[in-house]
Formats: sequence, structure tokens, C-alpha cells
Amino acid sequence: MGSSLLLPLLCAGVVTVATLFLPSSFASEAYPSAYGSGSCNVELIPVKREVYADGRIFDITHPYTPNMPTFGTDEGIGEVIWLEKSMKNGSITNNSHMKMPTHTGTHVDSPGHVFDHYFDAGFDVETLDLEVLNGPALLVDAPRDKNITAEAMESLQIPKGVRRVLFRTLNTDRKLMFKKEFESDYAGFTEDGARWLVENTDIKLVGIDYVSVATYDHIVSAHLPFLEGREVILVESLKLDDVPAGMYNVHCLHLRLPGAEGAPIRCILIK
Ligand SMILES: *[C@@H]1O[C@H](CO)[C@@H](O)[C@H](O)[C@H]1NC(C)=O
Ligand SMILES: *[C@@H]1O[C@H](CO)[C@@H](O)[C@H](O)[C@H]1NC(C)=O
Ligand SMILES: *[C@@H]1O[C@H](CO)[C@@H](O)[C@H](O)[C@H]1NC(C)=O
Repeated sequence: MGSSLLLPLLCAGVVTVATLFLPSSFASEAYPSAYGSGSCNVELIPVKREVYADGRIFDITHPYTPNMPTFGTDEGIGEVIWLEKSMKNGSITNNSHMKMPTHTGTHVDSPGHVFDHYFDAGFDVETLDLEVLNGPALLVDAPRDKNITAEAMESLQIPKGVRRVLFRTLNTDRKLMFKKEFESDYAGFTEDGARWLVENTDIKLVGIDYVSVATYDHIVSAHLPFLEGREVILVESLKLDDVPAGMYNVHCLHLRLPGAEGAPIRCILIK
């Protein structure tokens, strides 16, 4: 960890000094491939992982890439991060900027998302209970042949006392989060499934593996039972691939965005 952070700095220093002595044709290029291109003998290969600590920690957050899907479009989310200031263009640091809809990628919904009076009253993402977003959680496989209906919920037999459940569905099998095009036939909760969960279980954190907990046909009506009581928190577009079903500790922390009814959220599971 420490060395992978340090090396780019050392090599960047080498590159900067070397640049002074390079032919002007090289130095004036807008986007030269300076890093790791011979000026520095050490191979700079950043490590990106899905699993940490010998299989104990799973990153269940999707990376923000231009091709990740978003509700109702074939275009993907597009460029949401860009390099505003670049060292190769003479800035003293690299500085990226970011701009995106709050319900993009792995994200959380607050009650104001579907209830206008809650929005007006200020039930934004700052009001979400961090205790609900962090603690023991069950990762379950929902039936693949139906949406999460009342019948499907009942068949899962989730014991009383379980307060956080991440539902893996056909969406994960279909790798929908890795397709740029939005697919409206994704699996999710029907209205009766949502109502059954609220009335018959102790679940307060509901996670799902595509852009919405609610099916396309019940897009608003299946959100209502969840968010009406202002106790259930919804986390959408989780990355549940290659994680064994079972009990974990979930840790989710969203961006603190006053006034916003949604926010990007980083979630991990710890065995
Ligand atoms: C550097 O500046 C040039 C000219 O303004 C621009 O075309 C290029 O995209 C910039 N490169 C980076 C990495 O910002
Ligand atoms: C800094 O920006 C340049 C583009 O000008 C890019 O090639 C390089 O990877 C960036 N460095 C870091 C540390 O992000
Ligand atoms: C779930 O509901 C959607 C409509 O909202 C439908 O297109 C899809 O086929 C259903 N999925 C399953 C597995 O029944």
C-alpha cells in the first residue's frame, strides 16, 4: 500500500526534471505518456481489487465508468469525471472534477425521492440513519423465475430480527450493471413484495443489484411502502457478483449532500 503510493510521486519527480532536458517536441505534447515510460525503471502497476484481506472484505460498489447504465437510457452515464487541471499541461497538481446525477451508480434513496411532502420537509440523505447502513446483513439469492413479489418474499423465509438484507437477483446473473444499455425487464420488488417486506419482517436496509429496487412496471408504487415509514433505507446498483450468500457485516457510507434525496454510496461487506 505505502510503496504503491510513494512510487508515483518519486517517478513523477524524475519525469518533471527529465522533461526540462527533453526536446521541445516532446515537452509540448498535450498528453505525453510520461508515467512509467522509461524515465522510471520501476514498473508502475496500480492494484485494483474487488476482494481484500484474504477474501474477508468484498467491495460491493460499482466503479463509476462512462458505460455504466442509468435509468431509462441507452447512453450509459457518460463522462462524469474529467481532468480539469493537468500536470502535463503545467499545473502543479492533477485535479479532476466530477458532476453527476445523485441517483447514479451504487447509490442510496431517501424518503424525499418519492414523497414530495417529505422532500419539502427536508428528509434528505443527511437524515438517513448510519446505524441502519452499518451492521449485520444477509446476502440472499432471490428466486430467479419471478420478481420479488409477496410470494417470493415469503418463500425466502428471512428470520425475524434480520434488519439488513441485500437481494441478489437475475440482474447479477445477466450482468446488467455491466451493460451500457438500460434494460427495463430487470428484476426488482413489485408493490406487494415491498409491502410484504415492510409488514412482515424487521428489514430496514434493502439492497439490490440494479438501478432500482422497484420493477419497471411498479417503479413508483413499489418505492412507496418502503419509504413511507421513513425507516427503511434503499441502496441500489450494488455489485453482488462473486460474493457467497450468507451473513456479513455491511458498511455503507453515502456522501453527505444536504437537500439531496439521493447520493452515491460506498458499500463493503466484511465476513
Ligand atoms: C492540455 O491542454 C491542451 C490545449 O489546451 C488540451 O487540448 C489538452 O486536452 C490538455 N490535456 C490535458 C490532459 O488536460
Ligand atoms: C496527471 O495527469 C496526467 C495527464 O496530464 C495523467 O497522465 C497522469 O496519470 C495524472 N497523474 C495522476 C497522479 O493522476
Ligand atoms: C419483472 O418485472 C418486469 C416488468 O416490470 C418484467 O419485464 C420482468 O420480466 C419480470 N421479471 C421476472 C423474472 O419475472
